[in-house]
Amino acid sequence: MNDLLRFIDSSPSPFHAVDSLCRRLADAGYVRLAENAPWQLAPGGKYFVTRNGSALAAFRVPRTDFAGFLISAAHSDVPTFRIKERPEMEGPDGYIRLNTEGYGGMLCAPWLDRPLTVAGRALVRTGSAIETRLVYVDRDLLMIPNVAIHMNRSANDGYKYDRKCDMVPLMGLGESKGAFLAAVAQAANCAEDDILGYDLVLVPRQKGLVWGASEEFVSSPRLDDLQCAYGCFQGFLAASDSGSLPVFALLDNEEVGSLTKQGADGTFLSDVVERICAATGRDRSCAVANSFLVSADNAHAVHPNHPEYADLTNRPVMNGGVVIKHGVRYATDGAAQAVFVALCRRAGVPVQHYANRSDMAGGSTLGNISNAHVSLNTVDIGLAQLAMHSCFETAGAKDTDYLVRAMTAYYSASLREENGTFTLA
Ligand code: CO
Repeated sequence: MNDLLRFIDSSPSPFHAVDSLCRRLADAGYVRLAENAPWQLAPGGKYFVTRNGSALAAFRVPRTDFAGFLISAAHSDVPTFRIKERPEMEGPDGYIRLNTEGYGGMLCAPWLDRPLTVAGRALVRTGSAIETRLVYVDRDLLMIPNVAIHMNRSANDGYKYDRKCDMVPLMGLGESKGAFLAAVAQAANCAEDDILGYDLVLVPRQKGLVWGASEEFVSSPRLDDLQCAYGCFQGFLAASDSGSLPVFALLDNEEVGSLTKQGADGTFLSDVVERICAATGRDRSCAVANSFLVSADNAHAVHPNHPEYADLTNRPVMNGGVVIKHGVRYATDGAAQAVFVALCRRAGVPVQHYANRSDMAGGSTLGNISNAHVSLNTVDIGLAQLAMHSCFETAGAKDTDYLVRAMTAYYSASLREENGTFTLA
């Protein structure tokens, strides 16, 4: 569990999450490939490639001919607030605030009254080049203060948050003018004038922790979806060689519809599949027809104070095992479910099921979107959590390990399909 929290803590932005995993891959002997150079892949080789610094694909080439791909995909981004250009706003009354734009469908209230900072990347001029530098301003820099109850007596009767007014972070008083760019430049180790562009978001400073009378729970920023990313990644690393080619993917921009070059609606995953096939002499169509995707994104646990929001019969609980997600906006079907359940049984991992209450729309995820580019049997799964899209979420302390075990079994398998019959070796 501490390693999950270490990973999340070291991943305050999608760029940091990808960087954290690249370090772990390099330590494990994986070789970095470049998208703008030819790929020479050796049997038994271990590789990874990134796009935009915020999406990642890692894979291993089996020593023997492989039937197809066993892929998992999770997302690197979270709902937050982006820092706009020229963000500093002076006033009213001597305050210095930052101009932001909402990113994704966040719960607003949890962002109030807690220390915040910024993280992401800066594009820095270095001589004739423009270099990408990770930025994490490692201090309590910002706060979004609530309005006192005395000034808004109806605050507890349901409140409509106005993002351009209620959600504006406070940075300082008059003497702090110019401090934002100075802090970013210091974190990027450059002069302010050399910052030619940036992608920065608000980040809560609160670190993750394990809690509860019997330490049942883990709470942290970014559990959706870094808990799934971590579980899939650890399973990918731990798996033994099989007759299928394992791919771990981490994609960006899921929270805003995935339609970017580094998102599930871009070509990244499809390009990786294409290039592996080309480099190994495999026919892409045949390989994809023997492939499988686990789309991993957290699921809603039954809420202790609002059990009525859960479906009548599909009611996931924390520490109850991996959740299979069903519904019209998910990719899961009976066939994909059957394959995944068989693998979980093999791993001794309990399985639960999630469906939206029949009068609620629920969320979606990258499984369906990714299928528009690489079409294969797909199961949507996740781990049960509370307070999804809060900036401090809660999940079960035991479930990460269940996911690691399930994904280890998944990536160690060989899958073949013939006329609706699935063979798992
Ligand atoms: Co998610």
